[in-house]
Amino acid sequence: MPPLTSNALRTCVRQQLPLLRSPPVIAVQQQRRGKSDEVSPTSSFDSPFRGLGASSSTMKIPDFGHYKSNRSQDSNKVFSYFMAGTLGVLSAAGAKATIQDFLVNMSASADILAMAKVEVDLSAIPEGKNVIIKWRGKPVFIRHRTPDEIEEANSVNVQSLRDPQADVDRVKRPEWLIMIGVCTHLGCVPIGEAGDYGGWFCPCHGSHYDISGRVRRGPAPLNLEVPEYDFPADDQLIIG
Ligand code: FES
Repeated sequence: MPPLTSNALRTCVRQQLPLLRSPPVIAVQQQRRGKSDEVSPTSSFDSPFRGLGASSSTMKIPDFGHYKSNRSQDSNKVFSYFMAGTLGVLSAAGAKATIQDFLVNMSASADILAMAKVEVDLSAIPEGKNVIIKWRGKPVFIRHRTPDEIEEANSVNVQSLRDPQADVDRVKRPEWLIMIGVCTHLGCVPIGEAGDYGGWFCPCHGSHYDISGRVRRGPAPLNLEVPEYDFPADDQLIIG
């Protein structure tokens, strides 16, 4: 036989070989599948498909009958509502107690509350003098102003100020000027009876405040802050 014919025959045999081999493989696979369909006598699993033919339904719904309540529908509803209501009340009580504990924990202690207000005897501060007290960790300036200082504070054109505020809006009694002594620029403590306007001067960056505590020159953007205060009596001041 010529070599070309021999090669063609070999190629043809190679292509046909898998087809010739396949029937035994399929037979082995079918044999294995048949074995797995058999139930092992030692298995406790009750297959829902056992004994069913190919045409039978594969749906097998379990019977929940023994879980069903024997009581009437109304009594079941009452029981459900009772459980839901009780759990709701208990949850609400627990949430309230938790929030209450949290708030009590966060609120100020007695010593902090004691510092929240400061009482000052004004009779000890002569006219034309400054006093500095500490309130909530900050200095507070108390100035007993003279009539000339009050007049000077009122003579300023409010519209020309950087932070326009009339003197009457900054005091409750004209002779007493109460302010927080913290510069509104970067928080230094200004010096009293200093500066170009006869009030306070902040040496840190050169802010000048007038006799009403209003900023007149320098980098400070706002007037000195006026805290909450009251005069319960003529010579008594309470800050806070
Ligand atoms: S902190 Fe007072 S001027 Fe800057």
